[in-house]
Amino acid sequence: MKLKVMGSLIAAASCLGCYQSCTTVSAEINAQDELVWCHDKVNKSLVTLCADNGNIDYTMMPRNIEGNSSVWHCRPAVPEEWCSGFWPGILWMDYAASGDENIRKQAELYTSSLKSILYKPVFDHDLGFLFFCSCGKGFEATGNPEYKSMIIQASDSLGTLFNPTVGTILAWPRHIKDFGGHNTIMDTMMNLEMLFWAARNGGNPNLYDIAVKHAETTMNNHFRPDGTCYHVAVYDLETGKFKRGCTHQGYSDSSVWARGQSWAVYGYTVVYRETKEKRFLDFAEKVTDAYLARLPEDYIPYWDFDDPRGEAAPRDASAACVVASALLELSNYVKPDKGIKYRDNAMKMLASLSSDKYKTDDSKPAFLLHSTGHHPAGTEIDASIIYADYYYIEAMSRLAAMQNAKMK
Ligand code: GLY
Repeated sequence: MKLKVMGSLIAAASCLGCYQSCTTVSAEINAQDELVWCHDKVNKSLVTLCADNGNIDYTMMPRNIEGNSSVWHCRPAVPEEWCSGFWPGILWMDYAASGDENIRKQAELYTSSLKSILYKPVFDHDLGFLFFCSCGKGFEATGNPEYKSMIIQASDSLGTLFNPTVGTILAWPRHIKDFGGHNTIMDTMMNLEMLFWAARNGGNPNLYDIAVKHAETTMNNHFRPDGTCYHVAVYDLETGKFKRGCTHQGYSDSSVWARGQSWAVYGYTVVYRETKEKRFLDFAEKVTDAYLARLPEDYIPYWDFDDPRGEAAPRDASAACVVASALLELSNYVKPDKGIKYRDNAMKMLASLSSDKYKTDDSKPAFLLHSTGHHPAGTEIDASIIYADYYYIEAMSRLAAMQNAKMK
């Protein structure tokens, strides 16, 4: 492994400024070892993705493993699949960590299958998940200018969904009638990172303004006073005024859907990174604190914090991965005491996720168990889901870089 780091993680935690609070859990996590384990799982996935003739169909993307299945259920990369960028992104992060040229080749082939999306009418807001999680990681690992062009093209397309009367990006054009207005969802906060990046890297500079306006309008309308969010905010198409908050994937309109809250934590962390505006940092802290205050003992949320089944409710490991990755970044922006708290929480989340309770055994090629996709629709409940793995390897890559830097 390129980033292989030897030595005491207790020392690393101390250097990171969290010796008091993190030593017990950090001693249980060696991010480099976790990345080696992920590399092994990625290779197992590639074997299971081969057809009988030994070839891989690069237009089919791993999506989930449910029940006792030991193989990925795959979906076509195009046209209406929001998760197609995660598997290429995992391959790029694995390539960055392992330096394995075969993984690079696989990453290139899977990333290529996304190209045709760019030449179709914009389906919805998921272009950021599709292109920044794939081409963004690919560009980071290789500097390939084709990936930059794809990101810029996807960003221009995403920008067409921005409604200036409302001040947000329309999430689902196909659902305007169902919701009775312009619908914005918390998930879109994740897609702003691509707009910021494009604006900074030769794309249309107006994309920056769109991203900031979306974050601001969302901050003002999409949250309850306690910092928890609705999944969906509906706005009047004529006046642009906020009409109501409701849910699509959560337990109820007034409940706290864990992944929605995790998108808010990650999203506002990125908005602060890109704008350096204090109002967004304060808000990132507020939504993070609302999430942390609701966590059960093992730091992995129930799929919805308000599922009345309480401890019997399914978990959502994917939300924990998203928040752990975000907290490793956010902890660097806040005041030192808060930074210690956030790093400590991130380490506890990662310690839990990397325990036998959440990691798969040899029977499955995914990294993690126990995520929940769309509970109200009855799909992907207590399953391995590709985006949990994506944010897990991202969090471990971030942690490895921190441990590596501090050991030098
Ligand atoms: N709609 C994206 C998600 O399930 O979080």
